[in-house]
Amino acid sequence: MMKKPNQNPKFIFPDSLKQKLTQRLEEGALRSLKRPSPELIDFSSNDYLGFSKNKFVSDFALEKLNAYSNKLHGATGSRLLTGNYDMIEDFESFLSQYYDSEASTVFNSGYDANLGLLSSVGQRQDLILYDELCHASIRDGIALSKAKSYKFQHNNLKDLEDKLAKFQNQFDTIYVITEHVFSMDGDSADVEKFVDLCDQYAAYFILDEAHSIGTISKKGLVSYSQEIFARIITFGKSFGSHGAVILGSNDLKAYLVNYAKSFIYTTAPSVETTARNWAGHLYFESNFQDFDALRQNIDYFRDQLGLNNLTGFFIDSQSAIQSCVIGGNEKVKSISKQLQQEGYDVRPILSPTVPKGKERLRFCLHSFNTKQEISKALIKLSELIN
Ligand SMILES: Cc1ncc(COP(=O)(O)O)c(C=O)c1O
Repeated sequence: MMKKPNQNPKFIFPDSLKQKLTQRLEEGALRSLKRPSPELIDFSSNDYLGFSKNKFVSDFALEKLNAYSNKLHGATGSRLLTGNYDMIEDFESFLSQYYDSEASTVFNSGYDANLGLLSSVGQRQDLILYDELCHASIRDGIALSKAKSYKFQHNNLKDLEDKLAKFQNQFDTIYVITEHVFSMDGDSADVEKFVDLCDQYAAYFILDEAHSIGTISKKGLVSYSQEIFARIITFGKSFGSHGAVILGSNDLKAYLVNYAKSFIYTTAPSVETTARNWAGHLYFESNFQDFDALRQNIDYFRDQLGLNNLTGFFIDSQSAIQSCVIGGNEKVKSISKQLQQEGYDVRPILSPTVPKGKERLRFCLHSFNTKQEISKALIKLSELIN
């Protein structure tokens, strides 16, 4: 007689894993999937410029799709096999011009880009220095690489310089990686100074620009493209789509195509995704009203913090990410819930995503948020925490 699934030992979830879920539950940090609530005011998505719903971007994408005779939908294979269709090659040429880079390599996501880059470049005799608050994709890439690695204190150039000075003669190559805008804190690295410091110590600088393009800058550190070893731009934030590009030299591209496993062993992005990503860039290239509106909203938000006695709770940030540090998973969840009941979609960021004691509400601002939405949300927040 066939066993019922729940009697089959293979279907009994291992105890060790159950315990880990129980631990998450006890810490108030159990993650689960929730459907979005479109009726709420969006202070939470990464769609900073509203491009995911932009009709002009959709129209441009359709034009691109129609311009290519090949009517593929899926990419049909890895870039190294059947997936290297004309449009993706042309899009990469466009990106190289747009961001003033010698070469561009498109990946399926920012996560894949960081994972593939960092895991493949770091050799056994190398060192990778990274900001302690770098994104999980960067840390996972480093963990998979053969290189030695150390973190430096968040945005602390002095600490980075001490480490560069200490290690400069001990490794073949030193890589330094940071983010232009940090995803959980919203603050910015002084990237020009990083470029200078890396230059001084002959270290290779890598910059993740996932949250800076379209929020604090239009093309990121384009004027330093010759000095930066690799720049990572993602399409899932301001471009409202999905995917990423690594900008760098022709040699870097050849290297990634040969050694970055998250590029090689995966199906290429679909034709529709590529058309959408290209369309987002074409639209953004000549329409800055959304960028200007977002910048105004960020300034307005910062002014309103002062008026509502909230400045002290927020991490100093000029970007679209504004984080209100509250502390304690349960407390943050409760305030987030109350804001959601008032109609504002503001999400809690819990430990272990952020360090214990630094749990926070993260406001993501958009070009399409109104001044009234911002001021009302902050008045409510002030009532809840002051
Ligand atoms: C700094 C940073 N880099 C990379 C990524 C990953 O990008 P993607 O969402 O395209 O995988 C994120 C995503 O949140 C991020 O915040």
